[in-house]
Amino acid sequence: MVFYLRFLQGLLYLVFLLIFAGSWVRHTGSGMGCPDWPKCYGYWIPPSPEELPENYQHHYLSKKIQKTQKTIQLLQNIGLQTAAQKLAHYLNHQSIQSFNPLKAWTEYVNRLLGSLVGILFLLNTFFSFQLRKEKSALFSLSLWTLGSVCFQGILGAVVVFTHLFPLMVSIHMLLSLLLLYLMNKIKEVADPSRPINLSPFQKRLLNLSFIIFLIQILLGTQLRQYVDGLSLPITNWSSAPPSFYAHRSLPWILLLLTGTLVYHAWKYNRTSYRRLINLFFLLCLCTLIGLSIYIFHAPPFAQPLHLSFSLISFYAYLRIKSRDVCLSSQKE
Ligand code: HEM
Repeated sequence: MVFYLRFLQGLLYLVFLLIFAGSWVRHTGSGMGCPDWPKCYGYWIPPSPEELPENYQHHYLSKKIQKTQKTIQLLQNIGLQTAAQKLAHYLNHQSIQSFNPLKAWTEYVNRLLGSLVGILFLLNTFFSFQLRKEKSALFSLSLWTLGSVCFQGILGAVVVFTHLFPLMVSIHMLLSLLLLYLMNKIKEVADPSRPINLSPFQKRLLNLSFIIFLIQILLGTQLRQYVDGLSLPITNWSSAPPSFYAHRSLPWILLLLTGTLVYHAWKYNRTSYRRLINLFFLLCLCTLIGLSIYIFHAPPFAQPLHLSFSLISFYAYLRIKSRDVCLSSQKE
């Protein structure tokens, strides 16, 4: 079991690294570094410029349009007419960039990391199968997680085929929340030790702040869709949508709520103090990095770090909530 817990911890770090890498790809504009998927310009390893045929840009654009018709059709079939129209309109204005080896390799390394994570989740399913007698829920949870990783992989391909259509990028990002949720569930079942005991007041405050946090994440993705249409560095926020102002203000409420939680834990309930203070610092970090994007016009690393720390904070919330559930279920 000790080995399995270490394996899970390592896998979690790797998932965060993958989230950072994915965001780095976006920040450096490398998402279209390889216009096809799973290969890169038809090769398993990014080719050199000499290996590309003369009309490669035209070739990949027509291939992409063919493939995206299916996505447009699917959106229409499930009643998302507006999204289908937006996607069709978006694609009409795209072209294939000329080959850039650095961008191709950046995207390629991200894909390699994604494949490694996929293989390790397969291995996780195998380990949890072996542990099914000790912890019966582990195996089914691992299967769900594997399913969600595969779905993420497919969605990653759709993101490439739809030429980084902003809505698809957001869905891809939001699905990583589901993956983190499932990973936390697995860890909760595998290791129910070190429980904490939140008072009803703390529970209410934590739930409220978690809901605001989720709204903050959704606003962030809205904002990202807006930022994606701008060129870096962003110097003018005057035409930013209302989501920008809400996103800029909500963190102060979040910090007030979690600050109160930390103070309460320090005074009355030491079991949750360490985890709550970690959460508070993570939220401070998200806020500071967010402010740096705004004030210093998206300096290097800021966008990938902003997203990564937001998702680490999401995980920290889940950890606190699930540790508390552990104690109440032990009491029953
Ligand atoms: C608790 C605090 C915060 C959280 C959890 C948070 C979370 C997020 C998330 C999840 C995104 C989407 C990133 C992506 O999809 O790549 C985002 C984008 C953004 N956030 Fe925040 N944010 C916080 C505070 C702030 C603050 C205080 C500002 C300052 C104005 C800010 C400015 C931005 C900007 C400009 C974007 C779009 C930039 C980009 O494309 O990465 N954020 N935020």
